[in-house]
Amino acid sequence: DEDHEVNWEDEFQELMQTLPKEKSWYGRDICFYQGFWCPSPVFKAVISFQKHFQALDTDIIVISFPKCGTTWLKALTFSVVNRNQFAREENPLFRSGPHQLIRFFEYDLYLKNPSPDLENSSLYPPRLFSTHVPYPSLPSSIKDSNSKIVYICRNPMDMFISLWFFTEKLRAENSEPFSLDEAFELFCRGTYGWGPFFDHVSGYWKASQENPNKILFLKYENLKEDIISQLKKLAMFLGFPFTEEEEKHGVVEEIAKTCSFANLKELAVNKNDVNTFGFPHNTLFRKAEVGDWSNYLTPAMVDRLEKLIQENFDKSGLTF
Ligand code: A3P
Repeated sequence: DEDHEVNWEDEFQELMQTLPKEKSWYGRDICFYQGFWCPSPVFKAVISFQKHFQALDTDIIVISFPKCGTTWLKALTFSVVNRNQFAREENPLFRSGPHQLIRFFEYDLYLKNPSPDLENSSLYPPRLFSTHVPYPSLPSSIKDSNSKIVYICRNPMDMFISLWFFTEKLRAENSEPFSLDEAFELFCRGTYGWGPFFDHVSGYWKASQENPNKILFLKYENLKEDIISQLKKLAMFLGFPFTEEEEKHGVVEEIAKTCSFANLKELAVNKNDVNTFGFPHNTLFRKAEVGDWSNYLTPAMVDRLEKLIQENFDKSGLTF
């Protein structure tokens, strides 16, 4: 009701005032909340999502750190889960961007409305959602239900370079130049939207180790290396395994091809449209290579990142 809404708006403003703030790499505010740097423009949506979202046991949630392969994993998840809803050549991915088919809680659904009607938020059942929110900050209904999480991470050096180019594209043309050195310092400190990256990855890694039936932890590099076996793993995990018949008829290969970088990048919808948050879809498709970092990082940067990777992941058994 209205009174309640007014109070919550006050409460929210008060909370916002107390949080440390910095600038993101392309000049918007980020605020430090529950141990991560939340992009300020979606902070309210994150809080609404935490307060109001009620997960169903059938929900599937695609989670990632930005630039780790979110777009790809959305395309794959959508195609695997819904493959019997449409003829092969009529995959909705040919007409809609992956981010339109699996919508973000914070950049989309809760951005427009603090308690959106999620009943028809996906094209087909089951409901498919996505988020960049770190594991400890997920609403408890996601953790406590039988909903499933698929998480994708990526080599930190490639992720850094990808983020660097992405933010370059989003920076206003007349804004001050922002060097790779500056970005690197901030990267090492964890100061960028959803950072620190290492905490994000560690949080989901640990949770997936504790609960492998709940969280599938994928790596971008593995998908690049063998998309067919990774697709089968994804389908099995989600409860939509490929039948022998489907495998014989090349259904797995077909999905891999539809979701490939080469295919998605060239579709009109991904060339021209702008997402709900004002990002042009084409900023999501750059080079899609493993090891592109070697073209940009100095040996000193590589050294420092290797140390960071070691410090953060060595004990966990996670390698890149
Ligand atoms: P690069 O900048 O290294 O090219 P996200 O989707 O999480 O924002 O990640 C973007 C990164 O994934 C970019 O990496 C982008 O090129 C790559 N990418 C986008 N679509 C892809 C696809 N279908 N297959 C493989 N990589 C893809």
